[in-house]
Amino acid sequence: MNKRTFLKACTLLGASAPWFSYAKTQTVESLASDEDFWEGIRGGYKLSPDFINLESGYYNITPEATLEKYFQHIRKVNAQGAYYMRTVQFDNKKRIAARVARLVGCPEDTLVLTRNTTESLDTIISGFPWKAGDEAIFAIQDYGAMQDMFKQVARRQGIVLKVISLPINPASDQEIVDLYAKAITEKTKLIMVCHLVNVTGQINPIRQICDMAHARGVEVMVDGAHAVAQIQFKISDLNCDYYGASLHKWLAVPLGVGILHVRKEKIAQIWPLLAEEGVPLTDIKHLNHVGTIPVYTDLAVDDAIDFYEKLGPARKEERLRYLQYYWTTKVRAIPRVRLHHPADPTKSCAIANVGIEGIKPSVLAERLMKEYKIFTVAIDGGNIHGCRITPNVFTTPRELDELVKAISELAS
Ligand SMILES: Cc1ncc(COP(=O)(O)O)c(C=O)c1O
Repeated sequence: MNKRTFLKACTLLGASAPWFSYAKTQTVESLASDEDFWEGIRGGYKLSPDFINLESGYYNITPEATLEKYFQHIRKVNAQGAYYMRTVQFDNKKRIAARVARLVGCPEDTLVLTRNTTESLDTIISGFPWKAGDEAIFAIQDYGAMQDMFKQVARRQGIVLKVISLPINPASDQEIVDLYAKAITEKTKLIMVCHLVNVTGQINPIRQICDMAHARGVEVMVDGAHAVAQIQFKISDLNCDYYGASLHKWLAVPLGVGILHVRKEKIAQIWPLLAEEGVPLTDIKHLNHVGTIPVYTDLAVDDAIDFYEKLGPARKEERLRYLQYYWTTKVRAIPRVRLHHPADPTKSCAIANVGIEGIKPSVLAERLMKEYKIFTVAIDGGNIHGCRITPNVFTTPRELDELVKAISELAS
């Protein structure tokens, strides 16, 4: 059996021992461009044959291995009905949340499962102990739903919003830290910052921002929607006060699971989105009343972590960065092409953003889909005007060659 056939066969067995042993004999760097290996990974997905999907930023397609387990969970819960809900539902949720806490590196009693990043961060923004006149800082490139919640709180409680704009290609991390530092006044209480900016792919210097903010008595809430399972980090290394993320993004859990981490000593001061009386305010469970939800999605988190850990966080991050670099280096010098994206490869991973001078982002996205069968998303706001391009572990360089060809033809 040659290497190619061997790797394909291994994939059919899932992340099994022989597959694993092959990956282990390779360095993370050499594996990043080992197309036989990644073709095997791609074989573990069922993808639409109708177009090239470069929009993994919305959410990640779930691999078949996880999807099969998910269907089993649905059948099992459905067979037991209310019995499942009244007996093991909460024990399972607690066990899975504890596993996620170990994955993202924070104490188990500081993390709960939510439905998504929006719920997690809106809990903090709306439940923060604001007083009229308090100030909050965020960036115009931050996610709209959270900006909306800040605006609502400003209307209801009279807080003041300071909106900064992040540079697309910062000269240094310090330039970003200084931007937030300059916006702080004596009234500033909270900064919201993206770990990985969804419209540009920029990885922000969270630790430095948190250290600077704390030295001035300001708390920091991190939007980690795109960071969990795309890049490797530990929440405990970031020194932030609040962290929210969606597990249906880079962990590829079926739709509808997120996380909220709150630093232990801050738990009691936050008001929940949905009330939960009878739980001590120091227990993060008081922020986690959700009503009846699709509990089998929580169960699939276990399977998604199994898949991620077998693939290997370092292998995944290296491959994603390799793919992004593969196409961005090819289009960077094309006349009229604008990359809204940091040039330093260590400051981004899978996500990048490309625009063409004279072509509206919506028109670019439409032409990419209609003329080249490449699906992306147009971003036209927050000083960013282009299409976000987000490959995944199933993306092939051949697909990215199609993108490069399309961009050069459209720009010429
Ligand atoms: C940076 C960022 N924050 C938050 C969200 C919201 O995620 P969700 O819709 O899963 O709550 C997104 C979604 O794309 C995002 O890109």
